[in-house]
Amino acid sequence: PTPLSADARPGVPVVDISATGPGRAPIQQVMDLMREHGPVLVRRLHGRDTLFVADLDLVTELADDRRFAKHIGPALENVRAFAADGLFTAYNDEPNWAKAHDVLMPAFALGSMRTYHPVMLQVARRLVGAWDRAARSGRPVDVPDDMTRMTLDTIGLAGFGYDFGSFTRDEPHPFVASMVRCLEWSMTRLARVPGQDHSAADAAFRGDADYLAQVVDEVIAARTAGAESGGTGGDDLLGLMLTARHPADGTTLDAANIRNQVITFLIAGHETTSGAMSFALYYLAKHPTALQLVQREVDELWGDAADPEPTYEDVGRLTFTRQVLNEALRLWPTAAAFSRHALEDTVLGGRIPLRAGQGVTVLAPMLHREPVWGDNPELFDPARFTQEAEAARPVHAFKPFGTGERACIGRQFALHEATMLLAMLVHRYRLHDHADYRLTVKETLTLKPDGFTLTLTPRTPAD
Ligand code: HEM
Repeated sequence: PTPLSADARPGVPVVDISATGPGRAPIQQVMDLMREHGPVLVRRLHGRDTLFVADLDLVTELADDRRFAKHIGPALENVRAFAADGLFTAYNDEPNWAKAHDVLMPAFALGSMRTYHPVMLQVARRLVGAWDRAARSGRPVDVPDDMTRMTLDTIGLAGFGYDFGSFTRDEPHPFVASMVRCLEWSMTRLARVPGQDHSAADAAFRGDADYLAQVVDEVIAARTAGAESGGTGGDDLLGLMLTARHPADGTTLDAANIRNQVITFLIAGHETTSGAMSFALYYLAKHPTALQLVQREVDELWGDAADPEPTYEDVGRLTFTRQVLNEALRLWPTAAAFSRHALEDTVLGGRIPLRAGQGVTVLAPMLHREPVWGDNPELFDPARFTQEAEAARPVHAFKPFGTGERACIGRQFALHEATMLLAMLVHRYRLHDHADYRLTVKETLTLKPDGFTLTLTPRTPAD
């Protein structure tokens, strides 16, 4: 659709960033622009306009699935170069979206988390093993790296029965580095100055994308070989992808689509959860009162057991730990932006005309700092997520998982995994902010605290 001219959007500031470009931290740049210009603005880059919105009333309108739907904006168009019609990047009207959504939904019903729980616990214990060794030697742990090891192994094993073995490697699995470079390519490609030569970057990207596809083919081959030698298809994600028939037409997903789904789930299923746990640990390391409240909660459940056996039900009882995670996702929603488009020509908020198909990007970190969050939105305060506080707040004030029918399918998976791990770590270790860490947020489409390390000592319940 032809973008409307700035004049057609009275009162919406247009900020041209062509002189500096979006840099390495485009999300934080728009956050700063909004701090200066308010929660609705047009960012102009080399003549291309993006409308960013964080205003709660406007986001509430955009969440109305009768008027708006998910938009595959330029960033996700780039991700399509390696995830194609996987669930995350499929167009709404691409038949494979509805088909895969229907086939895979049962794997994410709340009850399914009971099935994943033992695998999540098994991988959490790998992390604990690694952190015990670091504690004994006094060596700092690299928090985001280890969280990424843990979430990659979890989605690999729980979703696909495939073991990335991340804790037996000195460096994270090469899948991670390739994936991060693909995501970075998707992000930095948006900042390109027209007319420059980017063939080297594009060739490097192709190499990484091919490597991701190769890993995925191994994951699938490992399963199909197992099935031939008498193993079952399984009812995990890969089992459903390979065998479940769509109720409407009786067909299964095709091979190309399965590959796209596996890439999608390996990426979407670990990168954002890892960042969320890293931010939560950062805030706990900086906020002794919140840390004490988590300690009290886990001690009530597990006392001074040296190796507690968290049950599925325990995770549901970790309400304060869950509040900490939500509050970390409020301040730094690790998938920070999602886009919507109008189904018909319309006027947003009674003042911003939009053509059918025209994209609007919701900037969650600034939505999460709107006035509805009170006078001090920068303050980390898990009490914002008590049941009463949540019930008193408009539903669309908190959107770390997107909205509507294209919202995150893995939300319960992420929350179960992350809540259990945080609780286990707080129960077991004292966290030392040995480097007096100053938060710098690294952007690779998703957000992470860059270079965040902790040292650990074992905790006795008396601490
Ligand atoms: C979609 C965030 C964890 C799989 C989304 C969207 C967001 C999001 C914002 C919507 C994107 C859009 O509207 O364009 C997060 C966060 C997570 C997380 C913050 C962790 C804290 C997971 C996990 C999985 C997963 C663990 C898989 C196991 C997906 C998929 C979609 C999606 C497949 C696309 C759904 C569709 O369009 O049908 N996620 N996610 N995510 N997420 Fe997550």
